[in-house]
Amino acid sequence: MSMLNIERLTHRYGLTEVLSGIDLRLPAGQTLALVGPSGCGKSTLLHLVAGLLAPSEGRIDNPYRNVACMFQQARLMPWKNAIDNIALGLKARGMAASARRARAAALARTLGLGADDLRKFPQELSGGMQSRVALGRALAIEPDLLLLDEPFSALDVGLKLSLYRHLRGEIARRGTTVLMITHDLMEAVRLADRIVMMAADPGRVVHELPLDQVHALRDDAWVYQTTGRLMQAREVRLGFGLDPAPGGDSAVDAPAAGCAI
Ligand SMILES: Nc1ncnc2c1ncn2[C@@H]1O[C@H](COP(=O)(O)OP(=O)(O)OP(=O)(O)O)[C@@H](O)[C@H]1O
Ligand SMILES: [Mg+2]
Repeated sequence: MSMLNIERLTHRYGLTEVLSGIDLRLPAGQTLALVGPSGCGKSTLLHLVAGLLAPSEGRIDNPYRNVACMFQQARLMPWKNAIDNIALGLKARGMAASARRARAAALARTLGLGADDLRKFPQELSGGMQSRVALGRALAIEPDLLLLDEPFSALDVGLKLSLYRHLRGEIARRGTTVLMITHDLMEAVRLADRIVMMAADPGRVVHELPLDQVHALRDDAWVYQTTGRLMQAREVRLGFGLDPAPGGDSAVDAPAAGCAI
């Protein structure tokens, strides 16, 4: 079975080590959510997996050829309108203009973008619209590996819920392997098969949370209960920089690394 395999990955910017000894395995078809405090190296890890950075040490075996990325900043082409931005990867794959526009328009509708929005250029789009165009651009090529960096952070709750459904539908339909970054534990609980928590200075994996419930049975009640339960866990609270005890009344000196796995 193909699998993204990250071994003893360390990355430095100049002399500063931002990722240290990361070991991660992502089996085909699995959705892994990476959560952790700001600055712990999540985006750096995504850039390394995408091949945009070379690791200082360690290795990344990525068996996937058809990889799509959605970065934390939308990175749209300012000289192309929204529909042509969504269709960008299709153009690169040689699809004819009319076919790629039709595919991009259909995708845009499912992402809640109207015909008027599609004619606009990136600087004329709201932040949430830009992020949906970027998500559309990633989904348009029907990737085998999808790398997502905070894909839903600029969206209101209604849009989020509809895009979650759409994304899960695509994953189920195509068996896509997904590595996604989110700050939102509830979002991770809703979407992921596994949550990996990171800590900072240097960025490292400190905890893993498997989510065994099948996606079809993850209703709101299950998502709320599971998120609430996880938020009581000491490792999770430490990971989010909260007081380790839910009541906030127990003094704990152990650093986050104390729950390293
Ligand atoms: N190009 C760069 N050159 C030097 N340092 C960088 C560069 N990019 C990121 N860093 C530093 O590396 C560390 C990790 O940054 P990164 O963007 O990977 O964190 P993150 O976990 O994605 O944070 P956030 O949740 O805020 O997006 C930070 O200290 C950041 O300042
Ligand atoms: Mg980031």
